[in-house]
Amino acid sequence: MSEEQLPHIPLRPFRNQVGGHSAIYKFTRQAVCKPLVSRENLFYEAVEREAPPLLDFIPRYLGVMLVSYRRDNFILMEDLTGRLKHPCVMDVKMGTRQYGLDATYAKKKSQRAKCKKTTSAELGVRVCGMQVWNHATQSYVTQDKYRGRNIKPAQFDSVIESFLFDGERLLAYQIPVLLQKLYALARIINRLKGFRFYGCSLLLIYDGDKESQEDKTQKAPGYHTDVDPESGLLYARFPPHYPDEPDRGFLFGLKKLTESLEGLWNRERIRRIKAARDDPEFSQTQLAPLPTDGKEIFDEIFSELGYVST
Ligand SMILES: Nc1ncnc2c1ncn2[C@@H]1O[C@H](COP(=O)(O)OP(=O)(O)OP(=O)(O)O)[C@@H](O)[C@H]1O
Ligand SMILES: [Mg+2]
Repeated sequence: MSEEQLPHIPLRPFRNQVGGHSAIYKFTRQAVCKPLVSRENLFYEAVEREAPPLLDFIPRYLGVMLVSYRRDNFILMEDLTGRLKHPCVMDVKMGTRQYGLDATYAKKKSQRAKCKKTTSAELGVRVCGMQVWNHATQSYVTQDKYRGRNIKPAQFDSVIESFLFDGERLLAYQIPVLLQKLYALARIINRLKGFRFYGCSLLLIYDGDKESQEDKTQKAPGYHTDVDPESGLLYARFPPHYPDEPDRGFLFGLKKLTESLEGLWNRERIRRIKAARDDPEFSQTQLAPLPTDGKEIFDEIFSELGYVST
């Protein structure tokens, strides 16, 4: 078929984008598209072949298409917010290292500086943007990546808290579901020896709509740089220090993220116990102790290791 004969489908702006450096477009009600980066495309194909358990944490990859006005290729993928009425999204960039294997010296230097100045170095995770549905004002509260870069490690917990605050109360019931997914993701990543997720975004998503509260944790496409897409050759100016090990920088970030959520739950639990004791009218439900199954993965990963290697 010639280009003129292909069906023309208009792209619309995608309203639920909270982070990232290039614009994402809405394609259909259930699909978004973003400019194709060969490495990202290779990543999707590699995951299907080599790491199928990870597919549960990645938006469904629908293929590549040509966008004629830009004469560019775009990746087409499932819109993770597609079915949600008031999607609340937090984009966190994982890991203690963000430059790829094939980075230039300048890129490596700038990425290292960014990690040092942000929570990435100390916590292995940094906020790259978020939107939260405020039930009280019936509008979104947003934070961009510049705000995220200015968060100090000591403030990280309160930012996680603000992601789960609907303007009236803390949506504590989201926490156990998120935790179970993060533990499961850690278990999978820990088995993927040699995989690196430098610069990868993890999206935490739930529906801020009162009636249809449901949540999802999904890993957004990251950059996986094993092979130079042009030559098909391994091109690694900065290879990982321990290429036979899993991505400990990513795992370290997951550990910190789960600790933050656990702390949030435990503080809220105590707050509600005290509130009920002091005020007989207090009506919020009491929180049970957090189930700990799944959590032991981090002891397995970090017990014998005193360091985090990238
Ligand atoms: N499949 C998806 N469904 C819904 N939203 C998405 C999806 N993919 C990306 N987004 C939105 O777009 C933003 C940017 O996505 P992503 O991190 O993949 O971009 P990027 O180009 O890799 O950015 P960068 O490398 O600068 O982090 C995310 O923060 C999220 O809000
Ligand atoms: Mg990103």
